[in-house]
Amino acid sequence: MYVCLCKRVSDQTIQRVVAEGARSWREVREQTGCGTQCGKCACMGKSVTQDALARE
Ligand code: FES
Repeated sequence: MYVCLCKRVSDQTIQRVVAEGARSWREVREQTGCGTQCGKCACMGKSVTQDALARE
């Protein structure tokens, strides 16, 4: 599912960047662009990032 429509970032994309080494919401945001346009997805992006980090 898309988390961020502006930048077309899916939950799978976030899980992938975490698996590849991103260690914070800030790093996920920088690497994917998630949350950097309208900002409406920031809460969801952060939540998906935290879930992915918890599973690492
Ligand atoms: Fe993510 Fe707009 S939906 S920045």
